[in-house]
Amino acid sequence: MYYVDEQIRNLHRIFDQNARSGYLRLDLNENPGGLPEEFIKTVLSDVTPEFLSQYPETAPFSKALAEYLGTDSEHICLVNGSAEGIRYIIQAFSSKGGRIVGVSPSYFMFQIYSEMYGRNFIRVSYEKDLRLDLNKLKAALTNETQLLILLNPNNPMGNVYTMEEFENLLEIAKKKQITVLVDEAYHYFYPETFLKYALEGEHIFVTRTFSKLFSLAGCRLGYVAGWPGGIKVVQKLCTPHNTNAFALKFASELLKNPDIIESLIADYKEGRAYLIQELERNQYTYQGEAGNFLFIQPKTDVQMIVEKMKEKKKILIKKYLDVGKLGDCLRVTIGGRKYMEQFMEALLEIDL
Ligand SMILES: Cc1ncc(COP(=O)(O)O)c(C=O)c1O
Repeated sequence: MYYVDEQIRNLHRIFDQNARSGYLRLDLNENPGGLPEEFIKTVLSDVTPEFLSQYPETAPFSKALAEYLGTDSEHICLVNGSAEGIRYIIQAFSSKGGRIVGVSPSYFMFQIYSEMYGRNFIRVSYEKDLRLDLNKLKAALTNETQLLILLNPNNPMGNVYTMEEFENLLEIAKKKQITVLVDEAYHYFYPETFLKYALEGEHIFVTRTFSKLFSLAGCRLGYVAGWPGGIKVVQKLCTPHNTNAFALKFASELLKNPDIIESLIADYKEGRAYLIQELERNQYTYQGEAGNFLFIQPKTDVQMIVEKMKEKKKILIKKYLDVGKLGDCLRVTIGGRKYMEQFMEALLEIDL
C-alpha cells in the first residue's frame, strides 16, 4: 500500500530562495558583497580531480575549528548549514507532542521543524513596544517543556540577552531539565556569545553558521557546539558526508585569515553606521540592536515598496506584517556601505 506521512504532506513550506541572481539581495541576510575575489581564486587554485572525486574529509577541519573555538572535536558537529543542526536537535531532544518554547517572531524553521515532527511549539510573542517580556518567557517554561530555543541575537527582532538574563533562563531550564538551544547564526555581527555554556556545561547547544559573516551561504556549512554526549546524538542523525569539500576548504582558509574576517566585520559596521545615519536623517523609525539586518518602518505601503524595489530597482527586501508598534515593516539586510547607499537611494525614491 502506498504511504505518505500525513503530517509531512500537510506541512506548509515556502521555497523562496530561487530566481535571485541579478538582484541586490538584501532579503536573506547574506553578505551582498561576499568574500574578496582574490581569496576565492587562491582557494580554488589547487582544486584537483581527486579533491572533487573523493568524499570530503571532515576530521582536519573539525580539529581546526575546535582549536579556533578553544575546544576539541568532541564538542562540535559539522552540519550542512546550521538549519540542519537545528532540525536534528529538535528531532532528538523533544518527543512527539513534546513542548518546545521559543520567541515570536523568529527564524521560521523552528516552527517548521516542530510541525514536521509533531511537536507543540509554544510561541512567546514580543510586546507591542518590541521588547521581550522575560517573565512571560520564564512562565512558559513548565515542567513539561523539553526544549527552549533562544537566539542571540534574534532574527528578525535583533534583540539580545544580557549574561545575567541568560544565566537566569539557564538556571530555570536546568531545574526543569529543559535542553537549551541558542542560535548564534548572527555571531560576529554581535560579539557577545553564550558558547562557553555549551562547551563547559551540559544540555545546552549553540548553533552557528558560515552563511552570514563568513559569506559562504552558497556552500552550506554550520556547526552545533555542545557537550560530547549531546553532540554524539546529533551526529547520529547526520547523513553520511553531510558537509561538502568546498565548504570545508573555504572555511578552513578563512580561519587561517583573521584579517579577512576583520575586514568583513569592518565593512558591515561601516554599512550599518551609514544606514542608521541616513534613516535618522530622513526621519525613519527602525529597530535592531544587533545582527546584519534592520526593521524599517516605511512611510507608505510595504507591499508597494517591496514590489517596486524588486521591479524597478532590482533590490530584494522582505516584508513583515504587524510587528508591534512598527506595524507593517521592511526587513533589510545590512551589507557594505555601497550596497546601503544603493538601498537608501531607492527607498527615498519609492517610499513617497
Ligand atoms: C536565526 C537563523 N538561524 C539559522 C539560519 C540558517 O542558516 P544556515 O542554515 O545557512 O546556517 C538562519 C538563516 O537565515 C537564521 O536567520
